[in-house]
Amino acid sequence: MQKFVYEYATKVYFGEGAAREHLAEAVSGYGKNVMLAYGGGSVKKNGIYDELKTILENAGKTVTDFSGIMSNPTYAKVQEGAKLAKEQKIDFILAVGGGSVIDCCKIVAAQAKTDKDLWEMEMTEHQFPTEVLPMGAVVTASGTGAEMNGGAVITNEEKIIKAGMAAAAPRFAILDPEYTMSLPRMQVISGAFDTLSHAMETYFGNSDQDNVSDDVALAIMRNTVVNMRRLLKNVNDIQARSNLMWDSAMAENGILKVGRVTDFQAHQLEHQLGAYTDCNHGQGLAVIHPAYYRHIVKDAKEKFERFGKEVFGVESAGESVEALAAFIKECGLPTKMGELRSKTEITPELLKNVADTCNVIKCNPRELGRDEIYEILMECM
Ligand code: NZQ
Ligand code: ZN
Repeated sequence: MQKFVYEYATKVYFGEGAAREHLAEAVSGYGKNVMLAYGGGSVKKNGIYDELKTILENAGKTVTDFSGIMSNPTYAKVQEGAKLAKEQKIDFILAVGGGSVIDCCKIVAAQAKTDKDLWEMEMTEHQFPTEVLPMGAVVTASGTGAEMNGGAVITNEEKIIKAGMAAAAPRFAILDPEYTMSLPRMQVISGAFDTLSHAMETYFGNSDQDNVSDDVALAIMRNTVVNMRRLLKNVNDIQARSNLMWDSAMAENGILKVGRVTDFQAHQLEHQLGAYTDCNHGQGLAVIHPAYYRHIVKDAKEKFERFGKEVFGVESAGESVEALAAFIKECGLPTKMGELRSKTEITPELLKNVADTCNVIKCNPRELGRDEIYEILMECM
C-alpha cells in the first residue's frame, strides 16, 4: 500500500422513494435559490422533474432550470450554466441525470465562483478550484459513478479534447433504482459496462499484489457481470438495476483506488475518441478494452489469470481476455468502431489523431508508445 489520506464527502440516500423521503432534508441547510439541472428531457417524460420540483418548492426553494445538458457535456455548456448561476444568485445546484449532467454541474459549481477560465486554470496553470457552489446529485442513469467523486469529464470542443477536470464532489447523492427504469436497454447495459471497466482499470494498475482493493475490485466485477446477465434476461429486473447502481458507485467512489496506482489507459483512449466522435462512453470502452488487453496481457499474466478465474471462470490469462470479448458480444454491445454511433465518420486518420492526442498512462502493466496506441485503435476497426 502507498500512503493515502481518505475522507468521504458525499452522503448517500439509496433506495426506492429516496428523493421523496430525503431530498427536502438534504437541501435544507443551503440557501433559497436552487438550480435544477438536467439533460435533454427524459426527466420531463418520466415524471422525475415534476416530483423533484414539487419537493423543492414545498421546501421553500426558488427553482431555476438549467436544461439541455448533452451527453459528453461541453465546456461551452459549462459556461452557460455558470453564467446562469451567477445571474440568478444560485445557492445550490441539484444535478438530475447520468454522468453527463452530474459532471457538467460539478464544473459549473466551480466556474460560478471564479471569473478565471477554469479550463486554463486547471490544464495550463495546474491550479484547482478552492471555492465551489454546493451541489447534490439525483442519479437517473447509473454506471459512471460520477455521483460519488470529485472529478468531471468535459469536452472542450474548440481544443478537441475530452478530459477529466477536478471539481467538488456532490454533498449528497440520491440513488433510487426506480428512477432508472425508463432508461433505454442499451444505455443500461453500456452504463453497467462502464462500471465493469472502472473496476478493471483500477485492478490492472501496476500496484503491489494482494492489495485489498484488488479483492474488492474483483467482487465488483463479478457482481456487475452477474447482474448484467440478469438484465439480459429481463431488462426490467429492478433488483438487478439496484445492484448495478451500487456497483457503479462503489467502482468510482475512490474506495478501490486508495493506496495504489490505477491503469485507466482504455478510458484515456475512449475519452479522446469521444472528443472527435461524441460516441457513447460505455460503448466506446466495450470496443477498446479487448484490443488493449490483447496488447498488455503478457505484461500482467498473473493478474489476468486471476481476473479470468474469478470473473469468468476460465483458466489462462489469454482466455480471460477472450472471455471478456465474448461477454461484450453476449451483451449486444458494439465490438467494432463502425458499430459506434458517431457524429463524424471514424476513419484511420481520425484514429491517428486520437492516438496522437490522448493521455498516455505510466502506471499500467506497460506504458504504450503512440504507434502502438494507433495499432490498438486500428485493431478495433
Ligand atoms: O439527456 P436525457 O434526455 O436525460 O437522456 C439521457 C441521455 O441521452 C438518458 N437518460 C438518463 N436518465 C434517463 C435517461 N433516459 C431515460 N430515462 C432515464 N431515467 O441517458 C442518456 C445518457 O446519459 P449520460 O449522462 O450521457 O450517460 P452516462 O451516465 O453514461 O454519462 C456519460 C458521461 O460521463 C462521463 C463520460 O465520459 C460521459 O461524458 N464519465 C464520468 C465519470 C466520472 N465523473 O466519474 C467517469 C466515467 O468514466 C465517465 O468518463
Ligand atoms: Zn468510465
